[in-house]
Amino acid sequence: MKQSVYRLSRTIYLKRRLHLLITAGPTREPIDPVRFISNYSTGVLGYTLAKEAKKKGYKVTLISGITDLNPPPGVKFVLVNTASEMYKEVKKFFPSCNCLIMTAGVCDFQPVKVKREKIKKESLGNLVLRLKRTPDILYEMGKRKGRRTLIGFALETDNLLKNAKEKLRKKNLDLLVAQRLEKNKTPFGNTEVSVILIHKDGSFQKIPPCSKSRLAKIILGKIKFL
Ligand code: CTP
Repeated sequence: MKQSVYRLSRTIYLKRRLHLLITAGPTREPIDPVRFISNYSTGVLGYTLAKEAKKKGYKVTLISGITDLNPPPGVKFVLVNTASEMYKEVKKFFPSCNCLIMTAGVCDFQPVKVKREKIKKESLGNLVLRLKRTPDILYEMGKRKGRRTLIGFALETDNLLKNAKEKLRKKNLDLLVAQRLEKNKTPFGNTEVSVILIHKDGSFQKIPPCSKSRLAKIILGKIKFL
């Protein structure tokens, strides 16, 4: 009896000390003061993960692009706009985290030049934008991973397993949540998803269609901290 009370309080104590860093939502890459490049990410899975992780007793930091969602109570919340801002914030919190979960839809490209004035269509025929790469946040963190757990996401239109395994290896991840983009079925927002979990050792597990809340619980169950 005494021993199990000790084990329980040790688990609660350790969980409180464990810090989960979660990114969510889309980044926005400005073109001019009124326009930007972005993607369809809604932040639902990242915010759900943050909420479930908080319920489990972890310390949680949520770094998010702009979404329609409210941050879960008790979570440290950092709002960002661009991929570069997200990178800066991830670098700031990474040293103190035990696990990084990157659900964010980070834009891979940003305009080379951001116009200070609004681009006027009258002066142009077609508009040609020159874009440059943004930092690959997860790849950079993978290089300085240490003993941390790193979890990434991949949405692919084809060669799902091959591309996902390659991402897992390149970014030095422990787990990659891979999803196929299917015609007429959006994975964005509050929808059911069917994913494949790919582990570091190359083994994979197909998860039947489930809510994002269920998926968040499955992912958190994979984190072996204790
Ligand atoms: N990611 C990141 N920084 C980027 C792009 C992606 O940290 N600049 C993260 C995403 O949050 C995700 C994982 O890397 O967890 C895979 O993202 P994805 O867009 O599927 O892959 P990319 O590496 O961007 O490659 P590609 O778009 O060519 O498939």
